[in-house]
Amino acid sequence: MDIWHLRGGNRLEGACFVQGSKNASLPIIAASIISPARSELLNVPQLRDVDAALRILRHLGCTAEQWGSDVYIDSAGLCRSAIPHSLMVEMRSSVIFMGALIARCGSARLSLPGGCQLGKRPIDLHLAALRQLGAEIDEAGGEINCQAQELHGADITLPFPSVGATENIMLAAARAKGDTVIRGAAREPEIIALQEYLRAMGLNVTGAGSGTICIGTFKPEKAVSHRIIPDRIVASTIACAAAATGGNVEMRGVDPSHFSTVLHFLKLAGCDIMNSKRSVRVRAPGKLSAVGEVSTEPYPGFPTDAQPVLMAALLKAEGRTVITENIFENRYRQVPELQRLGADIAVSGRRAEIWGVDCLHGSALTATDLRGGAAMLVAALAARGESTVFDDGHITRGYERFDMRLRSLGADIYLEC
Ligand code: EPZ
Repeated sequence: MDIWHLRGGNRLEGACFVQGSKNASLPIIAASIISPARSELLNVPQLRDVDAALRILRHLGCTAEQWGSDVYIDSAGLCRSAIPHSLMVEMRSSVIFMGALIARCGSARLSLPGGCQLGKRPIDLHLAALRQLGAEIDEAGGEINCQAQELHGADITLPFPSVGATENIMLAAARAKGDTVIRGAAREPEIIALQEYLRAMGLNVTGAGSGTICIGTFKPEKAVSHRIIPDRIVASTIACAAAATGGNVEMRGVDPSHFSTVLHFLKLAGCDIMNSKRSVRVRAPGKLSAVGEVSTEPYPGFPTDAQPVLMAALLKAEGRTVITENIFENRYRQVPELQRLGADIAVSGRRAEIWGVDCLHGSALTATDLRGGAAMLVAALAARGESTVFDDGHITRGYERFDMRLRSLGADIYLEC
């Protein structure tokens, strides 16, 4: 059990670097097995989920090591195509190994993935698309067995731009005979990052970032070096923490275009936002204003992963904000915990109405999921007095040395592991 001890009230001030992206790293680590090439990945965050992905690679027979923020993978020795349940349940992205394994081995056996409990989170879109590529898939008792002697290219239309399904199709299609087109694809920066990595591996893939991705021939390279993009959700969290505490923080090594919708709402709330190509400064007023309506949408809309931390930032904002969560049906699990701090939030279905209060007070909280847990830290930093966040390892799945990063900005925070 991780226990986060915080004393709120300090303005966050100063500058910090933002870690590499978890959600870009994980599919790229899975992608590393589609050919026996060696991969060097730079700027990979040191996180439990990354560690879990590397353990899956080692289980499959690959060499996989992390030294600081560098990861080295040699998948020449891959000799298994089954992932045991104990490794699958550690994180949601383990499902991306399905596309990678059928590309490399023509078979994959795994169980339903773990990850944050944000709703039902089915994988029907992944399975339907892989079937279109020629995979035969049996599902029974939470076990998934995929066989594909030879995958063939297909014209696939996703009814919803699922990030994971888009990634799985890109990986499986990499080794399919003939071209594949994905229509209605997810457009997230992490999809563009995966395309860059796959191109470096020798795959002819274009269109990521638009709704249509085309995957053609693969001429495998022997070795690949790739730098992971900065984490836009960690950047959003730090920006929200700066806003919540009336702070003045410069985030370095970020791509402001990746989280411009979050910055847009912080600006509406009254913050000064100063962008350069690789940094963003957020300077907050003494009192924030409510921002009206916020709806989560697939990229380039407002990201669901930043919804809990923006909510936390607005708990003391003057007026009413209404959030509509359109991506996950159960992503307000942080709300009862934020209410313990004195927040005035009413949830009705997918809508959450937040009335700014004058003051939040410290309390004992329990982290419910990764971003919900981060939201509790943001709110506790803006609360008067001491808070404790009890966390069964959610926050450290996505935030690297977050206590140190916040402490360097003046936060009174200490993580007891
Ligand atoms: C990715 O999850 C991210 N995870 C999530 O980040 C993020 O919240 C999500 O995309 C949306 O942006 C990683 O990249 C590892 P989806 P993913 O498939 O791929 C439904 C975090 O906090 N759906 O785009 O699982 C699904 O139930 C995490 O870092 C189906 O119905 O997201 C959900 O409602 C949490 N059938 C919606 O689509 C499917 O087959 C979006 O899911 C697949 C998805």
